[in-house]
Amino acid sequence: MKKKANQDYFTNQLLRWNKELNKREMPWKGEKDPYKIWLSEIILQQTRVNQGLEYYNRFVKAFPTVEQLAKAPENKIFKLWEGLGYYTRCKNLIASAKYIYNDLGGEFPDTYETILALKGVGPYTAAAIGSFAFNLPRAVLDGNVFRVLARYFGIDAPIDGNDGKKLFSLLAEELLDKKKPAMYNQALMDFGAIVCKPQLPLCSDCRLKKKCVAYLNNNTGQLPLKEKTISRKTRWFYYFVLQYNNQWHVHKRSSKDIWENLYEFMLVENDQSLTIEELLKRPAIKAIMQKKSIAIKTVSGIYKQQLTHQTICGQFISLTVTNPLHLKGFELVDKTQIDHLPFPKFISNYLKDKTVSLNMF
Ligand code: ADE
Repeated sequence: MKKKANQDYFTNQLLRWNKELNKREMPWKGEKDPYKIWLSEIILQQTRVNQGLEYYNRFVKAFPTVEQLAKAPENKIFKLWEGLGYYTRCKNLIASAKYIYNDLGGEFPDTYETILALKGVGPYTAAAIGSFAFNLPRAVLDGNVFRVLARYFGIDAPIDGNDGKKLFSLLAEELLDKKKPAMYNQALMDFGAIVCKPQLPLCSDCRLKKKCVAYLNNNTGQLPLKEKTISRKTRWFYYFVLQYNNQWHVHKRSSKDIWENLYEFMLVENDQSLTIEELLKRPAIKAIMQKKSIAIKTVSGIYKQQLTHQTICGQFISLTVTNPLHLKGFELVDKTQIDHLPFPKFISNYLKDKTVSLNMF
């Protein structure tokens, strides 16, 4: 079959699948408010739809307009974001909301270029917002789309190489139904999530299987290809949960590192695991332990969190002190304040596990 005819077949079959078989419902589907579409797309970057749903509903409820988001206290926004990870996304969300409200008079930008200029918005997100909210003829290209196109057209160019990126992006634009960009883009994302899944794709029921190169060659499992494998380093975080009189010593992370703007307890970091004895010999900890009336209450099990380029492992050592420690940069907060402060998932998981113990403290 000729290239053009094959491409038309792809687009037509996809839209037919969407019309006849796609039952997927999501609150942002068919939404026309660019602010809400933007929220959904930022939340869904690197997040599964099931997990993102809850966050989307909470954000829309707490901040129904860009003005409300722009005026909200940052800690409140970070708290709502807690658990989603990749906090730069949240920082950019806040910066862009302020920009739209303060500099654009609250009007959401409505061209591809001006949407793309927002902090935290890349080509994929700009195409999604532009097509869903303004019917701009821009094709989305994310992990789902790479996978569907690589398999159907049998493309073995790595999706993270320069040549591959150009090839896929050109093809994606050619395939787009320019009269129905919103419907086409959403259909393609849904198709990638429901039928052409990363693992165990539903090939036997697939409308496109007759012409799907990977299906015909029995190599759906090998496509798409990637050049690079991610290498991750491991960091060990030991948190000293220092309690004084039903209050805890916490501070806000500020360095250019993971979890900027989130709160944490006193941290000892190492590139390898440490025993409690080794930890107690660290100068900062030794200085605290030398004070009178300090007792180790509990030592947690090992917690682990996988980030894109690093693995965080660590433990929580909870201690009670009978005098406040006056640690530089730290504040003393009670349980209610702890509940309202944003913590990295690594710590909030511990706090959840420890709810019973915190009440007991
Ligand atoms: N992932 C990112 N955006 C999405 C959308 N609009 N629908 C489904 N999954 C998505």
